[in-house]
Amino acid sequence: MGRKTWESFPDPFRPLPNRYNIVITSNSNLIPADTPHSAVVPSFAAALALIDSLNSQHDQVLIDRVFVVGGGRVYQEAMETPGHHVQIFITRVQFEDADICDAFFPPIDTKRFTLQPHQRLTDVAAFAVPSGVQTESGLDYEFLFYEDEATRI
Ligand SMILES: NC(=O)c1ccc[n+]([C@@H]2O[C@H](COP(=O)([O-])OP(=O)(O)OC[C@H]3O[C@@H](n4cnc5c(N)ncnc54)[C@H](OP(=O)(O)O)[C@@H]3O)[C@@H](O)[C@H]2O)c1
Repeated sequence: MGRKTWESFPDPFRPLPNRYNIVITSNSNLIPADTPHSAVVPSFAAALALIDSLNSQHDQVLIDRVFVVGGGRVYQEAMETPGHHVQIFITRVQFEDADICDAFFPPIDTKRFTLQPHQRLTDVAAFAVPSGVQTESGLDYEFLFYEDEATRI
């Protein structure tokens, strides 16, 4: 995740539990060194290298699934990274007045990523994801799933 995304979590909720947290920032002191299962790196490529390094220190692969949780530039770089099977889980919020938003998901390259049938999302998530437009507190949203079919195993 990017530094602002990290900072958007209140202190008691970071690092996110039960996973290794990697924060991309130019501030190498952002997270105290004794913070458990966390690290800062200067770039997306350095994040991938750290994961490889953590895995190579053990007999079995510790980290076999990476969730990129934003923000915009990190999502962009993740979508452009070759050599990995990239899946995009999106909650698309239907919103008339985007002017009040200050962070956006980058455009999806539909030559690489194909919008999947809803059943594929349910299969990958392994639970019944609500299908179609949902409404909550007057806001309409939909769970969508894109996948790079060329690298699907
Ligand atoms: N709805 C969602 O799913 C979702 C997900 C994520 C974030 N958000 C929201 O979006 C906002 C933050 O997103 P954002 O796009 O503005 O910022 P961001 O990516 O979280 O943070 C930006 C900062 O991260 C570092 N950074 C990010 N990508 C980098 C890269 N590729 N290489 C080097 N450094 C990189 C830089 O830190 P330094 O300036 O420290 O060098 C940069 O200033 C927050 O309000 C957050 O709550 C929402």
